Amino acid sequence: MKRSGLLICIEGLDKSGKTTQSLLLVDALKSRGFEAVYTTEPSTGEIGRFIQRYVLRRKQRVPASVEALLFAADRIDHVEREIKPMLKDGKIVVSDRYVYSSIAYQGAAGLDIEWIKEINKMALKPDLAIYIDVPIEVIMRRLKGRERTVMEYPDIQMKVRDIYISLVNEGKLTLVDGNRPIKKVSSQIQRIVLERLGIK
Ligand code: TMP
Repeated sequence: MKRSGLLICIEGLDKSGKTTQSLLLVDALKSRGFEAVYTTEPSTGEIGRFIQRYVLRRKQRVPASVEALLFAADRIDHVEREIKPMLKDGKIVVSDRYVYSSIAYQGAAGLDIEWIKEINKMALKPDLAIYIDVPIEVIMRRLKGRERTVMEYPDIQMKVRDIYISLVNEGKLTLVDGNRPIKKVSSQIQRIVLERLGIK
């Protein structure tokens, strides 16, 4: 596919500040005159809404392979329905989670990472992937007193973080320290993105 836009994904643990940072990035890009759009996974489409109900907001986890297949199906649907048309229009698409969430979360559940990559082969490769790193203690403090999804438990978050860090070490994700004031984190993310756009 010929594409002229840019696909950026923002990754991190639950409550790492991804959504805030993705939205701030979109605003910053817009104020510089770029056409930037926020989007998220699970997507707002039918498969994404099904995942919220059937996978995330229930007492017990469904088998990890079912999770992986559903997230992959949602991703391909998201790419075809929303991301590709926006990229074709030259937009900068900022996705709050993407394929690395499947590698990290379903990988942490014990699935073969190569298989997760295989079932996500039809999804576009992002141009830039940023990982917002926040210590587990901080995540667990932020989750306190809230109703939790099936993923929001310390043992799961710890394993997910280990996989994200290994993806950083492999050079797939760019790490940003998220345990700092929102403004500091957002200006670093902006710097990384502007550099990728060739703007210093
Ligand atoms: P969020 O909307 O707060 O980011 O929550 C989405 C949850 O879904 C989060 O716990 C991570 C999980 N998830 C996966 O396990 N695999 C995936 O591929 C994606 C996109 C999300």
